Amino acid sequence: MLELQHINYAVADKEILKDVNLVIDDRFVAVTGPNGSGKSTLLKIVMGMIAPTSGKILLDGVDITNMPINERANLGVSFAFQQPVRFKGLRVKDLLELASGKNYSFNKACSILSEVGLCAKDYIFRELDDTLSGGEMKRIEIAMTAARGSKLSLFDEPEAGIDLWSFKSLIHIFENLYEKTAGSIVIISHQERILAIADKIIYLKDGRVEQYAPRDEVLTRLNVMSPGCAILDEKGEKAERAAKSVRPLKRKEG
Ligand SMILES: Nc1ncnc2c1ncn2[C@@H]1O[C@H](COP(=O)(O)OP(=O)(O)OP(=O)(O)O)[C@@H](O)[C@H]1O
Ligand SMILES: [Mg+2]
Repeated sequence: MLELQHINYAVADKEILKDVNLVIDDRFVAVTGPNGSGKSTLLKIVMGMIAPTSGKILLDGVDITNMPINERANLGVSFAFQQPVRFKGLRVKDLLELASGKNYSFNKACSILSEVGLCAKDYIFRELDDTLSGGEMKRIEIAMTAARGSKLSLFDEPEAGIDLWSFKSLIHIFENLYEKTAGSIVIISHQERILAIADKIIYLKDGRVEQYAPRDEVLTRLNVMSPGCAILDEKGEKAERAAKSVRPLKRKEG
């Protein structure tokens, strides 16, 4: 069980998280909310990449607020980034082994990679450098986090950069992970199909928890199932404003 008590996070004068209180003990919890509402910041604080300005974090009753990342990882907390980090010199197979602490046979690595839609023979010996596309890197990171089977698996927008065709299999990965995992999965997402498989949803707005409730209650409020979605509306309005602000290029006279 993860507990956040009165978490605040400020940078210079800017308050990014404001008195966040949460108890997470369900198996699949989604975090959603507008861009810039503090979702990634919140999960980075749970992983220990940044320290809260004030407040407490408890994992199964143990105070981990001042615990470094590697110790949290040993306790079973893992994190898949919004933008995965590349490691030159490290191969896909090395990463899977590092993550799970096991030596993988080709077949085992193949089954993990095929779950994220990658063919092992093409990828297993590839280096984790910038020759991998963004979507490939993202899938490898999801495979790695799934391979760990942690007590608490944190995913930051796993759908970002994944093509439409692979999105279906991504949902399948999370359904599988849900079946297999004994721990909790916390996933940041804007995708209604991911929100639709969560037990509970946290809706963050301007650094505050606006709502934390069973999925259907939050979905009803956000109206995600109909075209009037609050998040989609906001994105749509932004896109519309951006489109209006683009002026056609004028040909130079003369
Ligand atoms: N170190 C920092 N210095 C200044 N501002 C920061 C810092 N870290 C985060 N922020 C700001 O805090 C706000 C929350 O950022 P965060 O990345 O948590 O948002 P998010 O909800 O994950 O957004 P998105 O949906 O776009 O990924 C943003 O306005 C961001 O610019
Ligand atoms: Mg984010």
